[in-house]
Amino acid sequence: ARVDKGGYKHFMAKEIAEQPSVLKNTLSHYQNADASEVELPDHNIDLAHIDRLTMVACGTAFYAALTAKYWFEKIARVPVDVDVASEFRYREPPVSPGTCALFVSQSGETADTLAALRYMASQNATILSVVNVPESSIARESDLVLPLHAGVEIGVASTKAFTAQLAVLALLAIKIAYARGAIDAAQYRTHIAELNRLPGLISQALGIDGAVQDIAKKLATAQDIIFLGRGALYPLAMEGALKLKEISYIHAEGYPSGELKHGPIALIDKSVPVVVMAPMDPLFDKSVSNMQEVMARSGQVLLISCKQGLKTAAEGTWAQITMPTTPDLLAPIIYAIPAQLLAYHTALAKGTDADQPRNLAKSVTVE
Ligand code: G6P
Repeated sequence: ARVDKGGYKHFMAKEIAEQPSVLKNTLSHYQNADASEVELPDHNIDLAHIDRLTMVACGTAFYAALTAKYWFEKIARVPVDVDVASEFRYREPPVSPGTCALFVSQSGETADTLAALRYMASQNATILSVVNVPESSIARESDLVLPLHAGVEIGVASTKAFTAQLAVLALLAIKIAYARGAIDAAQYRTHIAELNRLPGLISQALGIDGAVQDIAKKLATAQDIIFLGRGALYPLAMEGALKLKEISYIHAEGYPSGELKHGPIALIDKSVPVVVMAPMDPLFDKSVSNMQEVMARSGQVLLISCKQGLKTAAEGTWAQITMPTTPDLLAPIIYAIPAQLLAYHTALAKGTDADQPRNLAKSVTVE
């Protein structure tokens, strides 16, 4: 079927706005009727005995994998390695028996990711994949395919596929956590219920659109922008920076907040906006103290947090974006919305083409 922009200026805007219904659909494919079980497509993988997971991807899918590492390690207690496919494939990493390899790819056709998959298959690893295109090469060569059910994604910068990847990876993490006995039945159900709040929380988060338009006017004049996050928000800081550079052509870097003093703080002055993603999680106070170090050097902080977080820490910041209060598990998925909208509106303010950024392709099928 032909897909049109449905009244939006860009496919990217449409795909951002679609996320509540996309996630609802994705979640519905992965649970039973009373939301008491995560259900995966048929497979014969012994989830209780996944002792190590190797994740490989490129671009935005790589950041989805990096975010999922926090969930697999913290919730399921499974050690995870994550790598970009172009590095992984040539390193010839030794593979121990029983290794599970998980490939994340919207298109399912990215050449480096596919080559990494073939390498792992040649080493007898069990191959799992999270793809949006179920007929793709990566899907065909996997032992277990977890489709996103996100519908066709046209904007070059991935948005709805990213949040759907995170949702599927979170579902898999809690499924494996429960299978391994790392969480009990009550915690398992709680996490399923949390994930089912995603569509509602994402719609709420989308309400920031107007506020982001104003902020983007100033971001559009910057030469460099730094994104900071801690824990599962660190990969999201990198994803926010990637989106911004892809479509607005402004140099941006994502850093773990705690690493600020080991380099990037030297870049800070009043001309450098610093986007701080700080949900009220156990690391909130640490993020705030890193943010204060930025402000002490005249950095212009855009603080993204919930109402309570902003009430505690907004003093002295240049701008704020209010996010709904979220369970820790969902924070990196909800905070993807401001990352996407900041990039989109900054691109609009600069007059670049968000759907067709220069030099980039939707799917990189050659090396
Ligand atoms: C390209 C696209 C990105 C995408 C990446 C990986 O760089 O511009 O949006 O994240 O490829 O693509 P895949 O289809 O493997 O997720």
